[in-house]
Amino acid sequence: MRSSRSQALYRKARALFPAGVSSPVRAFAPYPRFLRKGRGAYVYDVDENRYVDFCLAFGPLILGHAHPYVIERVREQLEHGWNFGAPSEPELELAERVRRHFPSVEMMRFVNSGTEATMHAIRLARGAAGRRKIVKTTGAYHGAHDAVLVAAGSGATTFGTPSSDGVLGDAAKHTIVVPFNDADAMRAAITANARDVAAVILEPVVGNAGVILPEDGYLREVRELTQAHDVFLIFDEVITGFRLAMGGAQQHYRVRADLTTLGKILGGGVPIGAFGGSRELMEHIAPAGKVYQAGTASGNPLAMTAGSATLELLERTGLDGVNALGDRMRKGLSKLAAAHRSRVQGVASMFQWFCTAEPVRTYENAMRCDRDAWHRMFLALLEERVYLPPSQFETCFLSTAHTAKDVDATLEAFATCLERAG
Ligand SMILES: Cc1ncc(COP(=O)(O)O)c(C=O)c1O
Repeated sequence: MRSSRSQALYRKARALFPAGVSSPVRAFAPYPRFLRKGRGAYVYDVDENRYVDFCLAFGPLILGHAHPYVIERVREQLEHGWNFGAPSEPELELAERVRRHFPSVEMMRFVNSGTEATMHAIRLARGAAGRRKIVKTTGAYHGAHDAVLVAAGSGATTFGTPSSDGVLGDAAKHTIVVPFNDADAMRAAITANARDVAAVILEPVVGNAGVILPEDGYLREVRELTQAHDVFLIFDEVITGFRLAMGGAQQHYRVRADLTTLGKILGGGVPIGAFGGSRELMEHIAPAGKVYQAGTASGNPLAMTAGSATLELLERTGLDGVNALGDRMRKGLSKLAAAHRSRVQGVASMFQWFCTAEPVRTYENAMRCDRDAWHRMFLALLEERVYLPPSQFETCFLSTAHTAKDVDATLEAFATCLERAG
């Protein structure tokens, strides 16, 4: 496989960016591929290799790359300008779509990333509750800001910094961390800090430690616990929103959150985030209330239009097709995994392969998998023209642009790599 251009660009990039990248998980050994083009289910690198893409920009591209309808709508918007710093109609179109699918979100604010969304949702919860502490689960990733860079998954774990240097102890001491899928630990954390916990923030399906599903009744129990102690429940649906169901994990698991954070698919791949909840809660946000939030590019018509076009298409096609592809992939991979002391987990159009025979129900389980074996398989799959997100602590995604043929070819590629690895 040719890779000389990627290697040359990476050498250049290492002089310009720490580890040669603009976000950590993109840097993998021995060198990342520089991508030049995406079309549908495929990405193309600068050496003219074509890969079936299961990274999909870490989740936003549920329609695949460069969908013609999104291009058409975005092009139309570009002709009219792309940032006004003033209210514009595309915000209303997208907000009404969000509200239609998330009944718990009566009002929202648009921001520019998932990081901003969770940062502001936590500030809002603290401001409205007049309490200091939050509870998160180990291995969940809620973006790269101080309150949540504690026992964080995704790149933070991949590179051994689940609790980042530079985050002051004073900031982190108000973040309580408990294992996922452990309602007793959650109860103990809330009761031990009674009257000082503002919010519990959860990835309802953990997508940043591989894919870890909530066990039966867990989300409901957390909901009941938070309600009983006047603690706000924040569902971080940056990954699960419009992916598990149009109404995200809240629809899929029938649990209603007080605050919801969104991103990724919401912008169709253009930078975006949002947080929202009841009108009463959201009216704490300035200038209606005293919790401050602002952003030069927030609600910009470019992201609003790309997001609306994406959601419009998803509303038309539904998620059944892409979810069926997810089932096909998980079923095929599970057959292979059984013979290789591995397992496959996922839901809807999300999946991950773990090099372990044990069920992965917590971050602690995910940490015990053979991560070197995972990386060897990842590199072997690249050679077979299959592009996964480059860490076990991420989620592989399918899009509406993938076909059963793509899935079957990928299953063959996995089989070939596993056979070669012995
Ligand atoms: C669940 C979750 N929350 C928040 C974030 C942060 O979003 P962003 O990378 O847009 O800042 C991510 C990013 O992967 C995420 O997966």
